[in-house]
Amino acid sequence: MTKDAHALTAPLPGGGHIPLLGFGTWQLEGTEAYEGTRAALEIGYRHIDTATGYSNEDRVGGALADSGVERSQVFVTTKCPPERAGYELKTLEESLAALGVDFVDLWLVHWPPNGQARPATWRQFISARDAGKVRSIGVSNYSIAQINELVEATGQCPSVNQIPWSPFLYDAAIAAALSERSVVLEGYSPLRRSNLGHPLLGELARAYGKTPSQIVLRWHLEHGFVVIPKSSRRERIQENFELGFELTPEDVARLDKLKGGGR
Ligand SMILES: NC(=O)c1ccc[n+]([C@@H]2O[C@H](COP(=O)([O-])OP(=O)(O)OC[C@H]3O[C@@H](n4cnc5c(N)ncnc54)[C@H](OP(=O)(O)O)[C@@H]3O)[C@@H](O)[C@H]2O)c1
Repeated sequence: MTKDAHALTAPLPGGGHIPLLGFGTWQLEGTEAYEGTRAALEIGYRHIDTATGYSNEDRVGGALADSGVERSQVFVTTKCPPERAGYELKTLEESLAALGVDFVDLWLVHWPPNGQARPATWRQFISARDAGKVRSIGVSNYSIAQINELVEATGQCPSVNQIPWSPFLYDAAIAAALSERSVVLEGYSPLRRSNLGHPLLGELARAYGKTPSQIVLRWHLEHGFVVIPKSSRRERIQENFELGFELTPEDVARLDKLKGGGR
């Protein structure tokens, strides 16, 4: 495992790679979304996570355009809200227009529509990918059974499942089930779903000369999980990017056992 967090990627089953570290943009609105994304791109993030439901695609796209970073260098994800089931391709066109891009790197079903896997929605995703409007397609907040249902109905497996994840939510069986299907595990809310005041994080932070947040984020990278921390504050956007250290396998194993001890 390289120390260089920014060189770490996961291969996507349909081709290409997803950077393991990305910038989350949920709850960044208006100017904050623009400034946050500009800061992230300046600091060096090359992976941005947005969604139709975040109502900030235009600001994220504006920051991308103004950043001077080439479009080809940035991995852009957006998501289709469950209530837009039946209007998937129209929703995608609106996302592309708001973002000001010709394609997105990854398009996700944000939540199972009405709590169902809904193969009809997945078929629309497949057609968008085949039309070249998205490079890869995936899901978010899907169970393994729902992923199986999509595969049984269409023969096509999502490339990614974006789910809440942290050392405090770690479930080796879920990680293994996704890995067996070659589905990349993309974790969300890594910090919100962690108890950053937990004594083990404090101990490791002191031992490595890092912050508890950095320990949590590096734990994802050691496992090969994608992680997309969000912050509205430049200094934290920077902090969350500075992951150029390695946790020992023993310390990763200790963090794996935190489940249930979160807030
Ligand atoms: N697919 C889904 O259903 C779904 C659901 C939720 C999230 N997501 C995605 O995942 C991304 C990340 O999840 P999230 O935004 O829920 O939570 P998060 O990234 O785990 O945590 C964000 C919170 O932590 C604070 N924070 C950020 N960096 C920090 C640091 N270094 N030290 C201490 N506090 C810090 C932020 O406050 P400040 O902003 O004040 O710094 C904010 O309150 C989202 O932005 C979104 O892109 C997806």
